[in-house]
Amino acid sequence: MLDKVQMILLSLMLLSCTAAQATASEKDAKHHSAAMQNTAIPPLEAPTDLSQPKVALGKALFNDARFSSNLSHSCATCHNVTMGGTDRQATFVGANHREGTLNTPTVFNVSYNFRQFWDGRAKNLRDVINDHILDKHILNNQWDTLLKELNENPKYHESFKLLYPDGVNKINVQDALESYLQSLVTINAPFDRYLKGDTKAISEDAIKGYELFNNLGCISCHQGPNIGGNLYQKMGIYKDYFNSKQKIVESDLGRFNVTNKDEDTLVFKVPSLRNIALTAPYLHDGSAKTLEDVVQIMAEHQIGKSLKTHEISYIVKFLETLTGEQPASTDTDKKN
Ligand code: HEC
Ligand code: HEC
Repeated sequence: MLDKVQMILLSLMLLSCTAAQATASEKDAKHHSAAMQNTAIPPLEAPTDLSQPKVALGKALFNDARFSSNLSHSCATCHNVTMGGTDRQATFVGANHREGTLNTPTVFNVSYNFRQFWDGRAKNLRDVINDHILDKHILNNQWDTLLKELNENPKYHESFKLLYPDGVNKINVQDALESYLQSLVTINAPFDRYLKGDTKAISEDAIKGYELFNNLGCISCHQGPNIGGNLYQKMGIYKDYFNSKQKIVESDLGRFNVTNKDEDTLVFKVPSLRNIALTAPYLHDGSAKTLEDVVQIMAEHQIGKSLKTHEISYIVKFLETLTGEQPASTDTDKKN
């Protein structure tokens, strides 16, 4: 009988066949390279269709503490773009000093995720913004209060009027923030350059790590342009994750909290591994401090193996090649 990882690998092979057919039929062949056809990980592409004035407005909103009820938090407090889009804490602290139980995920490349949040309960970025603003643990605010404050600020009043005929409202705030989030794509990681044919872009050790990543089956879950973010999977396929924890809290239940189905306990959106070297600590509960730690935890829980030190170090070298360029929209000089 096929085990679970083999099943996933099989469905992945089928998926990449369809993807290869789709690419082959595309007229534009300039992005073709042997590396790209053979990989389940296509390079990231910068978005070309964003309205730059909306991105700039979204950026101002993202950095504005009016979003939290007590003016303590902007989006950037937890998603600091100079720290890989995270707060580098095990778990977040929200408005009114409320301590959360989840690790803050990055905001980089989120437009590539098929759903948002660890448990996938947000269908899109607008849902994330709405959920976060009302969440007592995150921003603890109300739309009425927030919109009133934004409207009273002459700068916002003007910029919204210029970009949106109906001015400051919920949909337009979501739209501007979404434009900024969509701009946060980190292109040209050494691994992407390698995929595009620059064989010297990553070290021999990193290539060995990539081979291990493929052969061990990490790629069966962490795949697609975001190297994650396109599947739900259980944490602890070969080893019960709850046994590894002293205290179990509600957020550990993962998608169970959304579907109420027992089989969804400990099921999470597979996180993206892009820029992973910048976003320690790891896992939904922030319990893994280093890349070495999390690679060993993954090997034991997800592929049923204990890796040797040199194997872990090759994989870590590979993971380090996934750090892309800081997007232009995060450039502090261009702050409006
Ligand atoms: C107090 C810390 C905090 C603040 C402030 C905050 N976030 Fe988050 N953000 C989180 C946490 C924690 C999660 C994961 C929540 C979950 O999975 O339930 C998250 C998830 C996200 C995600 C989804 C990422 C993914 O991979 O699933 C996006 C996008 C995001 N936040 C954007 C924003 C924006 C935009 C703002 C401002 C309106 C903001 N955040 C403010 C902590 C914060
Ligand atoms: C069966 C699917 C599956 C396989 C196979 C798998 N992972 Fe994961 N990976 C996950 C899930 C699900 C999570 C989130 C678990 C959590 O937060 O509790 C995760 C989390 C991670 C993280 C932490 C990401 C973050 O932002 O915190 C890293 C790093 C990682 N995996 C690397 C690997 C490596 C390396 C391998 C191969 C040795 C591997 N994974 C195999 C599903 C998988």
